[in-house]
Amino acid sequence: MTALITRVDAWEALDSRGNPTVACAVEVAGGQGQAVVPSGASTGAHEAVELRDGGDRYGGKGVLGAVANVQTVLAEAVTGIDADDQHAVDEALRAADPTPGFGQVGANAVLAVSLAACLAAADAERVPLYRWLAAGSAGATPLLPLPMVNILSGGAHAGGAIDVQDFLVVPVGADSFAQAVEWAWRVRRAAADLMDAAGHGTALVADEGGLAAPFASNRAALELLTQAIERSGLAPGSDAAVAIDVAATQLVDGDRYALASEGRSLGADEWVAELADWCARFPIVSIEDPLGEDDWTGWATATKALGHVQVLGDDLFVTNTERLARGVEEGIANAVLVKPNQTGTVSGARRVVDLAQRSGYATVLSARSGETEDAWLADMAVGWRTGQIKVGSVMRSERTAKWNRLLRIEAELDRAGGSDYAGRGALEPAIRLGAPGAP
Ligand code: PGA
Ligand code: ZN
Repeated sequence: MTALITRVDAWEALDSRGNPTVACAVEVAGGQGQAVVPSGASTGAHEAVELRDGGDRYGGKGVLGAVANVQTVLAEAVTGIDADDQHAVDEALRAADPTPGFGQVGANAVLAVSLAACLAAADAERVPLYRWLAAGSAGATPLLPLPMVNILSGGAHAGGAIDVQDFLVVPVGADSFAQAVEWAWRVRRAAADLMDAAGHGTALVADEGGLAAPFASNRAALELLTQAIERSGLAPGSDAAVAIDVAATQLVDGDRYALASEGRSLGADEWVAELADWCARFPIVSIEDPLGEDDWTGWATATKALGHVQVLGDDLFVTNTERLARGVEEGIANAVLVKPNQTGTVSGARRVVDLAQRSGYATVLSARSGETEDAWLADMAVGWRTGQIKVGSVMRSERTAKWNRLLRIEAELDRAGGSDYAGRGALEPAIRLGAPGAP
């Protein structure tokens, strides 16, 4: 079948933080797709370019320029192309703006078209998106991902309540995705109870739905999360483990790392030793962005010291094959966070997943702190067999849109004869979280 693109439309919408973002609809022969792109707060300097208007409208955050680029240059570039061939669509988008990071038209404009075309192709083929994406992987079988669920928030997502940006629970002992979500819910509720008992309010939540409180130290937050796991009737480490996203680029202060909430500043070696100590004391299985985005030397030290757990590069790799290839070459990190809007196209994100899986790096598909009600990220995790997914907490509709989609996919597959869940036996051997990769 062919699904020639007949029409591309775009408009300005709002994301979950209330900031403007690009929405796009693509019509093809026999189908249509619509996508609204997400946006980060603790963005990496090396991410593809998010085009904003400046000026007074929406405090300068308007995206009418990016929307106009979709309606003109990008619409012209992809009209008449077969959306069944995602590579051809993305090549046409690249040809329309060959600058690095889509600096002319904006990666927010490009991703909106790339995603909407992908959704339109699946629609025209009358298959669920995850099946369409799996078919593009030589018929890979769908794999439900192990979720990483935000419980406590700090950094740029919570007004700097605590230095580390995300404290997450990873339900490594759950037998199914649905059970993993229920366990994460229990841990979040127990964490809220503990915070209430300590006199912190829990009614207000951070950008990703996590609880935010001015803990006395980052360790105090780790202690509370570990206690919450116990209080949920789960065994810390074997049923439910802990992951953190330090988002350390936000802590960089010259050649040191500043922990503002603790009034301390540490050199990279000292900081890595501190993180290693946290790993020894708490059931931590994954550390994201322990060092700054350009501190390759610090990252090498961190990988040596912390490589017994998952060392996950977000702002370091920014979903960029060249940066990931350098990491693989130099033995830096052992896992990559994949955010489609850091690179700008569906194919670009796919290439990073492929390179990681070929190189023995784990892959964690991730939402942004500024999200939308779209759920394509869930299908992407399943179809591409990323093994892990991170979309924030178990509340706020822009988060539950993704969890709910995954719950539905698991239920559908179970009814059709059985689902495959990456979290089964996630802790064995040692720490290969979410058993990603080819079927
Ligand atoms: P961001 O945060 O979307 O604000 O970049 C998510 C993350 O750091 O993983
Ligand atoms: Zn991150």
